[in-house]
Order: sequence, then C-alpha cells, then structure tokens
Amino acid sequence: MVKTKKVAQCTECGHRQARWEGRCPGCGEWGSLVEVESRPSPSHPNGPHTIKPAAPITHVPIDDARRVPTGIGEFDRVLGGGLVAGSVVLLGGEPGAGKSTLLLQVARALATGAGLPAGAGEEGLDAVDASGPVLYVSAEESPSQVRLRADRLEALHPHVLLASETDLGTVLALVEHHDPAVMVLDSIQTVRCPDVPGAPGQPSQVRECASAVVAAAKQRGMAVLLVGHVTKDGQLAGPRMLEHLVDVVCEMDGDRHHALRMVRAVKNRFGPVGEVGCFEMTGEGLRPVADAGRLFVGAAPDGTTGVVVTLALEGRRPVACEVQALVVDSPLGNPRRVASGLDSARLSLLVAVCQQRAGIALANRDVFASTVGGIRLIEPAADLAVCLAIVSSRTEQPVPRDLVVLGEVGLAGELRPVAQVERRLSEAARLGFRQALVPAAYDGPAAGLELRRGRDLADAMGVALGSGMAMAAG
Ligand code: TYD
Ligand code: MG
Repeated sequence: MVKTKKVAQCTECGHRQARWEGRCPGCGEWGSLVEVESRPSPSHPNGPHTIKPAAPITHVPIDDARRVPTGIGEFDRVLGGGLVAGSVVLLGGEPGAGKSTLLLQVARALATGAGLPAGAGEEGLDAVDASGPVLYVSAEESPSQVRLRADRLEALHPHVLLASETDLGTVLALVEHHDPAVMVLDSIQTVRCPDVPGAPGQPSQVRECASAVVAAAKQRGMAVLLVGHVTKDGQLAGPRMLEHLVDVVCEMDGDRHHALRMVRAVKNRFGPVGEVGCFEMTGEGLRPVADAGRLFVGAAPDGTTGVVVTLALEGRRPVACEVQALVVDSPLGNPRRVASGLDSARLSLLVAVCQQRAGIALANRDVFASTVGGIRLIEPAADLAVCLAIVSSRTEQPVPRDLVVLGEVGLAGELRPVAQVERRLSEAARLGFRQALVPAAYDGPAAGLELRRGRDLADAMGVALGSGMAMAAG
C-alpha cells in the first residue's frame, strides 16, 4: 500500500517541504505554498527496482530526432530545421506581435505539406495526411474570428482543424479524438484546468495545463506549438517553470510602428539558440524576409551627415544596419541623449568617449541617435558606427556611403576587436559596399573590400571623415 501524507508545495517554483510557511524558501514568493498530497520519495524505495544500467556515452545509439520542416523557412531556421515529433515549442511575445498570425500560417503550411523536402510534391501531401491533421485550438478567439483571419492570410486548408476551447480536459479530449500530428494551442494562459484553484493564467494553472500538454505530446509523439503571453517587462507570464517544461522557447518581437518581426530561439533542446527568423507584417500576414539586404539601411543621398552603416549579427546572420545621429544646440541645462533602437546607457557612454577621447564638444548639445527600419542594435560591435555618426553630425562632415564600420569602442577611445568580422565583411561586399573600417587588431581577409584599420576613435575619424576636424574641437 502506498501511504500518502500532506506536504507544502510552492505554486510558483514547485519547491516542496514538510511544513507550510507564509513565504516560499525556494523563490521568496509570499503566500504561494499550498498543501498537496505527497508520495514516498523515490530515493527511499519501498521495494526492489529493476534498472536499465547506464551505458558509456560512446555506445549510446543516436536517435536522430525526427524533424518536419514547417514549410516556413524563417521559422524552421529558428527551430534548427523544423518541428520535432513529440516536442513542445513555446512562442512568447507581446500582444499584437503576430503570434497567432504566424502559427496559423505554420498550421496551414504543415497541413499542405509545404514543409516537406523539395521534390516531395504530391507525395508530401500524403506523408502529412498519414501522420494526422493539424489541430488549431484557440482559447482566445472564436472559430469564426480565426477563420476570418485565415481567409485574409490565404491559410485555409481542410486539414487544419479549428476548435475554440478553454477547458484543458476538452482540449485533451479533442487531441484524443483527432490524433493530430501537430497541435497549436493559443494561448497557454487562457486554458483552464478545473482541478486546480485559480483563474486561467495564474502560475498554478499555467503549470498544470502546460504539464498536461507536455505529457500528451510526449506520449503521442505529437508536436505542440504553445502561445505564451509576456508581461510588461518582457518576461514570459506564468511560472519560470513553464520554460523548463518545454523543449523550445521562441520569442517574437518587433516594433509596433514597423512591419519588421523577429523570432528568436532562447532555448532549444534540439538545435542552436540565437538563430533569428525575420518577417515582415503585411496586409496578408507575415512574409518571410530571407534576405534582409538593405532593409535597415536608409536611402539618404551622398553627402548626408550623421549617417553610418555597420554590420550586426542577428543570430549567425550578418545584417547591414544604419545608425543615424543628429547633434543640435541644446536649450537645456542638462542636454538630452535620446536613443531609439540603441541602448540608451551605451549612447551616453559613447557620447562621453567622443567628448573626452576625440575632443568633440557635445556638452551643450542634444544628441539623438537611432537605427533604421525598427531594428534593435545592442551589440558593442556597433559602437564605432554610433560614435562616427555623432561626430559626423557634429562636424557636418559626411561619412562615405560605400563605407561600413565595425568596432567596439572602449572608455579610452580604443577600438576593440569584434567577432566574425570576415562573415560581416562578406555580407557588406555582397550588398555593394566597397570599403570597411575595422579595428587595427583584425588581420583576417578583406572579403573583397578595401580595408582601412584604426587603433582608436581618433584614427577612425581620420579615416572616415578625412581632415578638417578642427572646427568641432572648440
Ligand atoms: P496577432 O497575430 O493577432 O498577434 P498576437 O497573437 O501576437 O497578439 O497579430 C496582431 C497584429 O498583426 C494586429 O495588430 C494586426 C496585424 N496584422 C496585419 O497587419 N496583417 C495581417 O494579415 C494580420 C492577420 C494581422
Ligand atoms: Mg493572438
């Protein structure tokens, strides 16, 4: 007979202990401990156990995860090649980011077999048929709302089954009934398990629902795409445990005022993290942007000041990004440093370096700096572009439009090396840039560009702006 006794368990972090307390020692949350039934700890077995001995790692057979490309190349890139049977992917993002849109498009692509390897054609359709339909469960919108959106996205397909349910038991019964190959659940914060107290979206609810869905996925070999909401500070809502429960965590972000949407993997048990998928939100849904090209480079004419191009790494992809700066007389005692698409603390630091190490007078000037096209540039490799844009605006000397600059700027004004320079330079050459300014320490190939080197910011200004720096020094 298995004896049960009561223990206290935290609804936030899952910490268990014998006695109830007001505050969880595991995560520090107040009032999160509840009494639950306990089973004897498996570390004190009651009877003999049959074991499967551990094997030397070299003898473990490789169970190559079965991956099905979703058919949306930019999403597959993030997933590391496609969806793995039995895996659970959590897609987080702010309201309006485009999560529902993306997953509806993914559902349709999976249902048509668009994701099967090239050449699969009609056979591909059969292959997906055989493995079951795609079940799209919306716990936020009615079926007709989803259908309306699908119409607009041209994402209609008879193998996409639509249900609008918020009860966990019903969702699992639907899975049992339809035996789908893939389920989309939109969202994990709006389904509810009746056995657990609390409203949908509360940590205990989210954990219970997610665990049940994960268990169903593993047991049936069904891939699950879960939508997760994020809180105001950008964290996934619900217990941290949600991220531990799932196999892949993707985040979708993008500036509301721009069409650009980026999806990146922050955790992936089956592939690399850091890969980024780029999409553009259009009237007909998300359009993959396989080649960012000059998307983040403006069209300012030759001779425009305060405009400099750098190459950022988005995941493993180099992306050309323009940094713009405008330096104007400030009416304020405490002049402003305003960053858009850039880190504002980093901007203040770089303004200080320009003043102290390159003699650029900025004390009575407002400095505005921004990126183009809604991209967020937080890599230190973009420092030099920010500094040169500021100096160019302040001195009213343009930086050549066929020049790209790379370099982290230190507090002493020195240029520090950046990672993967060659890869970035090749992309610049492909896009038609002709010269590159890099830290002096770089001794790799020029990738078809004319290479200029600088040891520090003053050097770099000499290269990018030529002579005539004297006017700003006053
Ligand atoms: P949605 O997928 O509903 O976002 P989420 O599920 O992350 O909350 O998409 C939200 C925004 O996308 C919405 O503000 C309207 C816009 N949108 C388009 O611009 N074009 C489209 O075809 C669709 C479906 C949405
Ligand atoms: Mg939605």
